Amino acid sequence: MKVLILRNEPAAIERAADIVARTVRDLPAAVLGLATGGTMLPLYQVLAQRHRDEGLSFAKTTSFNLDEYIGLAPDHPCSYHYYMQEAFFRHVDIDPARCHLPKGDAADPRAASGDYEALIEAAGGIDLQLLGIGQNGHIGFNEPTASLGSRTRIKTLTTSTRRANQRYFASFEETPRYAITTGVATILASRKCLLIATGAAKAEAVANMIEGPLSAVCPASALQLHPRATIILDAAAASALKLTEYYETVHPQGRDSAFD
Ligand code: PGA
Repeated sequence: MKVLILRNEPAAIERAADIVARTVRDLPAAVLGLATGGTMLPLYQVLAQRHRDEGLSFAKTTSFNLDEYIGLAPDHPCSYHYYMQEAFFRHVDIDPARCHLPKGDAADPRAASGDYEALIEAAGGIDLQLLGIGQNGHIGFNEPTASLGSRTRIKTLTTSTRRANQRYFASFEETPRYAITTGVATILASRKCLLIATGAAKAEAVANMIEGPLSAVCPASALQLHPRATIILDAAAASALKLTEYYETVHPQGRDSAFD
């Protein structure tokens, strides 16, 4: 794991944007694995800004989002379809025909999950997978005890995840109970992955992911198996790590090392 610790959230987001921009410049037809959540909002803002100011182009990219709530139509304001449209897609030149999210409103969500996994495979797999992390260590909606060998499927959300996401809905009762999510093994199959965590509320999950045992209790710890995983943290999210001095020696202020 490449652990990059930046002094604050804006610096962490800029660093993440640099990695996304480099990927898209080096590989204009990159297949991007995209994520939602509060952490990603400033990243999408910076990428949209770079599109406007520097001509960073997503025109040839294909995207696959990690997850979608079951039961929400794409035009539901709390759906991840809607989030992606508002936060990113409509601000850049990505081709809507190549933007994919699981179909949360499918008549048969189980079949839709299998179709989604097949679509990722047909696109040649994911070049760069963006990830946030839940306070409970989830990645995508792979909640604690999710199979580390899982592929896209339906997951029941934990009460803690529903409580964390309740702020977007009218009430806890209205917060969806189920989602379609790509699996831990789907995420591990990506060629590169980039997890971003900011804020003190993520510190414990981050420590479990990086320095804890490999365990389905912290699904993000599966990234210990990924050959090219980069973790970008601000100082608050890094605050429970024990080997900070080592990470900062290898990547001072989150910069690349001489051998990257
Ligand atoms: P957040 O969500 O960015 O809103 O904290 C991250 C996640 O749950 O994966």
